[in-house]
Amino acid sequence: MKIAHNKSLKEFNTFGIEVFANAFITVTSESQLHKILLEKGQEELFILSGGSNMLLTKNIDALVLHMAIRGIAVKHESEDTVVVSAYAGENWHDFVQYCIEKNYGGLENLSLIPGYVGSAPIQNIGAYGVELKDTFVSCEAYEISTGKKRLFTNDDCKFGYRNSIFKNSIKGQYIITKVNFRLTKKNHKLNTSYGAIETALTNADITFPTIKDISEAVIQIRKSKLPDPAEIGNSGSFFKNPVVPLHHFSKIKKLYPSIPSYVVDKHTIKIPAGWLIQQIGFKGKRWGDAGIHEKQALVLVNYNQATGKEILEVAKKIQNKVKEEFGIHLETEVNII
Ligand code: EPU
Repeated sequence: MKIAHNKSLKEFNTFGIEVFANAFITVTSESQLHKILLEKGQEELFILSGGSNMLLTKNIDALVLHMAIRGIAVKHESEDTVVVSAYAGENWHDFVQYCIEKNYGGLENLSLIPGYVGSAPIQNIGAYGVELKDTFVSCEAYEISTGKKRLFTNDDCKFGYRNSIFKNSIKGQYIITKVNFRLTKKNHKLNTSYGAIETALTNADITFPTIKDISEAVIQIRKSKLPDPAEIGNSGSFFKNPVVPLHHFSKIKKLYPSIPSYVVDKHTIKIPAGWLIQQIGFKGKRWGDAGIHEKQALVLVNYNQATGKEILEVAKKIQNKVKEEFGIHLETEVNII
């Protein structure tokens, strides 16, 4: 097994932050992973997937396992649906495109999300009215302490908004190796409710969209708002959209009548964090190489050589000011390491 030492992780995180790993292994098979888990002894592990939802603020003093197990297969098929399984190291967007080419519906709204398949369930990735949990059947994962494989069903995962059991009660205890999705082969349940998708389809003169049309609309919207990590380092939305009690929302609405919001339940309402950050005047601001994207205030960016600590400073400035102005705490969506 090839172990690299003092390995730069710059290429392995979409923020493009330069930190070093004490030791680094690229894991390409389940048997290799199993062996590492049985032999690791007291050595601490750090699981690295697509690196698209993390901010690295320090060197990693652990054995980094870069999860690169690949493969896609159809597990079951009926007349209407198909269960497709993808290994953790598959690139998420490539997997979505594979499904669209085969005319398997359900993931099209999740096009162009950076990262790998294996980390998608951890934060229940979501965009444009669809979440991973809507098509997720189960995933296989190895317990780090014992090396045993376990199957997690949709219910087991306790999915929520950018949340799952993997971020809570069993955080850091399992490594996801494979994810199974149930997708449609016909009568696709298209989700075009998101305003920007409707507009994109209308502009393209499309009345009866296919899943490919929706995927293309999503790609176009994302490209127009979100920076490409290959060009400007970033991790997508840096904060979660906060959910606040209705009475708190009413107070803000009196001062800002045009505030956008989404009702969650009878007592709470979700406010777009991007809007809050824009209101405090931070959209497009920059301190050295760390800044806030000019087209989407929820996205923090590394223009070139920013350190993780510098990006974190920007995040703290935002949190303090939003708290001061709106009395709302912005929780990070990105994992701070
Ligand atoms: N807004 C502003 N200013 C900004 C950004 C947004 O006023 O700078 C307002 C918009 O005008 C709109 C509202 O905020 O009224 C929502 O904006 P947008 O549609 O861009 O979505 P978002 O709530 O900022 C969420 C997800 C994204 C996902 C989009 C589309 C979270 C934390 N983020 O962003 O997910 O792509 O919806 O569904 O839920 C990610 O998780 O990394 C991510 C990019």
